[in-house]
Amino acid sequence: MVLVASLLACRGSSPPAVEKSAQAAPTPPAGDVVPMRPPSDSDIPSGALGVSIRRGHALLTATRDSLPAYAPSGLRCVSCHLDDGRRAHASPFVGVYARYPVYNARSGKAYTIEDRINDCFRRSLNGRALPMGSPDMRDIVVYFAWLSRGVPVGAAVEGQGLAKLTPLVGDTTRGRALFGAQCARCHGATGAGTTVAPPLWGKASFNIGAGMSRLRTAAAFIRYNMPFDRPGSLDDQQAFDVASYITSRPRPDFAGKENDWPNGGAPPDVAYRTRAAASKDTARR
Ligand code: HEC
Ligand code: HEC
Repeated sequence: MVLVASLLACRGSSPPAVEKSAQAAPTPPAGDVVPMRPPSDSDIPSGALGVSIRRGHALLTATRDSLPAYAPSGLRCVSCHLDDGRRAHASPFVGVYARYPVYNARSGKAYTIEDRINDCFRRSLNGRALPMGSPDMRDIVVYFAWLSRGVPVGAAVEGQGLAKLTPLVGDTTRGRALFGAQCARCHGATGAGTTVAPPLWGKASFNIGAGMSRLRTAAAFIRYNMPFDRPGSLDDQQAFDVASYITSRPRPDFAGKENDWPNGGAPPDVAYRTRAAASKDTARR
């Protein structure tokens, strides 16, 4: 309890108290896994920095209204990065600023945090890349940096990314029935979304190049986060079944998808052929 109290104090905004508990708390070395302890909104500083943090946050929650030219789909950033990027196993943004730049296998390049953000704009939101130096990009990065406060550079955060499930074969027939029984009441019978939940397929949804279009990624997200009001109630097989149904539905294409994973190693659940994989097959013949 004492520990919890001092950690909470650590997140407080009064400068002397912060200094004291920050010194008392051991700083984990980079490479460690640290607990997820996002700051709360009351910790947002005043002044220009606070304005930027709040603006970045608003762009993630009201993405289409704020950036209609870049994010015209029926999704917003926090449709998948739940609780405004604070939920474990829903690809949280806590610590993300401390982890980039990283090598990104899908593009075969070193990726800055801005590169990664734009991948979700172009694929998950089926939209367009934000200009790199724009105030909007800056404010999103500022929000991520603030959420990542206290996470050492290079450290992993508990609950980072999505849960790792043992891959199973999904059954679309069972998945379709499960969708009707457990998902349609919010996402709509045609998967096109309703006023309470975003689209899962169709023209307003994420495109084929998005991570969520992959069976394993969708299953891992669904297993621990959906149904929204009963997270964790599906078992692994049910998550794979319903994910296989959703990923089999039509959705927007992604131009240039064949150039993904240019150095090979595309995961087996990617729903399209990459050039690197095709040339490897040709070489084998
Ligand atoms: C359709 C779901 C979806 C939407 C909408 C979405 N993302 Fe993502 N995002 C993902 C998935 C899936 C991953 C990869 C998670 C994994 O495999 O660890 C990801 C990863 C990321 C990462 C890297 C996280 C890490 O741990 O390395 C960032 C940053 C990110 N998204 C930002 C955004 C932003 C900004 C938006 C809005 C413009 C957005 N995302 C919208 C699904 C989504
Ligand atoms: C009680 C309503 C509700 C139910 C039931 C529900 N969801 Fe969701 N779902 C949501 C909401 C709300 C979001 C977006 C969260 C946000 O925007 O804050 C979401 C987001 C999602 C997303 C990521 C965003 C997208 O649209 O692609 C997927 C995938 C998803 N749900 C799948 C499912 C599946 C599969 C089921 C059934 C097993 C299900 N949901 C049941 C409310 C629901």
